[in-house]
Amino acid sequence: MMAIFSVTTVCFVAFLVRGCTGTGLPSLTFSKTDIQLAVDSTKQLTLTPQSHIIEDATILFMYESGKDTSYKEKHNLIVPVPNVIIHGNTTKGVKVNITAVTAGHLTLRVNSSSPEIENLEKCFVRITLVHDKALVIINAVIGWIYFVAWSISFYPQVISNWKRKSVVGLNFDFLAYNLTGFLAYGFFNVGMFWVDGVKKEYADAHPRGINPVQLNDVIFTIHAVFVTIITIFQCTVYERGGQKISKAYMNFKRKSTEGWSIGNVILDFTGGSFSLLQMFLLAYNSDDWGSIFGDPTKFGLGFFSILFDILFIIQHYVLYRGRTPYYTIIPDTTEYIEKPVNTPVATG
Ligand SMILES: *[C@@H]1O[C@H](CO)[C@@H](O)[C@H](O)[C@H]1NC(C)=O
Ligand SMILES: *[C@@H]1O[C@H](CO)[C@@H](O)[C@H](O)[C@H]1NC(C)=O
Ligand SMILES: *[C@@H]1O[C@H](CO)[C@@H](O)[C@H](O)[C@H]1NC(C)=O
Repeated sequence: MMAIFSVTTVCFVAFLVRGCTGTGLPSLTFSKTDIQLAVDSTKQLTLTPQSHIIEDATILFMYESGKDTSYKEKHNLIVPVPNVIIHGNTTKGVKVNITAVTAGHLTLRVNSSSPEIENLEKCFVRITLVHDKALVIINAVIGWIYFVAWSISFYPQVISNWKRKSVVGLNFDFLAYNLTGFLAYGFFNVGMFWVDGVKKEYADAHPRGINPVQLNDVIFTIHAVFVTIITIFQCTVYERGGQKISKAYMNFKRKSTEGWSIGNVILDFTGGSFSLLQMFLLAYNSDDWGSIFGDPTKFGLGFFSILFDILFIIQHYVLYRGRTPYYTIIPDTTEYIEKPVNTPVATG
């Protein structure tokens, strides 16, 4: 225990010292470190020396894709950038044109044989090439639409529990699965979106791939974990029923979908279909169909939401239309009791 603590402390101090002394500033910087470019369009960047150098220096460009860095642009993503000269005794920048050829992404790096120019590994620009820039905005909008639809769909349950001061009819297994699922998915999203090490690992594994995780996904999972915890808290303080079966199976047993909100299913369906739509548009826009399977949880969430919503809709409108339940759930019991309701209405 103490040993682990000491090791952690030493590492932390080492990290601080390294952060304070620094490892030197790059002697060249690009005017932007991240750019997004539509195919066939050109963006001009400026490469500026941070201090005067004495002799003129030739700068060569390198193209990094995954683990591979080369002076040749092997993937034909952008038009190769010709060498530029940084002049001595001036801090005036030089212009660099980046022209997109196909969708994908790469990092443009620089090198020079001049001994005056240091820390060139810190001088780079990440380039994302898309088919259509408007789609980038449309995708962000779609992302927030499914964020809102899915997030709102959590609340009717929370509000109904609160109004009834009861969690009877709620499936506890489902809550536990939700919490585990959202936590795992949340770690994945936060890592993929905010942790550089994770992002780099994903980029190395998918050199031409884009990051399939969007900001709305990160916020969605954080919020989902929060709402699930509130619901679990409600289960600890409100009156409980004891049934432990899935909602679809419950509908099947009771031959009714009564007491279940179609509004909720419509929200869920909207969330699922917009999420899938976004994945396909993202994949199309970056020519990266692998990204769909790079985030199997997002794909699965969308796909299974739609599947189960369709199942519910069929149960509600076709199979058990207008029926009152054969069986009812009795509060204050620890078992799911199959107690026949007086007279089931068999007509639809
Ligand atoms: C920059 O100035 C130094 C000293 O003034 C001189 O030796 C050097 O040749 C100059 N460099 C260029 C590229 O003009
Ligand atoms: C960059 O493109 C602009 C037009 O977009 C052109 O005027 C300029 O000469 C180009 N510069 C280089 C270094 O190719
Ligand atoms: C940059 O250029 C120097 C000198 O030409 C060479 O030694 C070095 O390996 C190059 N760096 C990279 C990352 O290619």
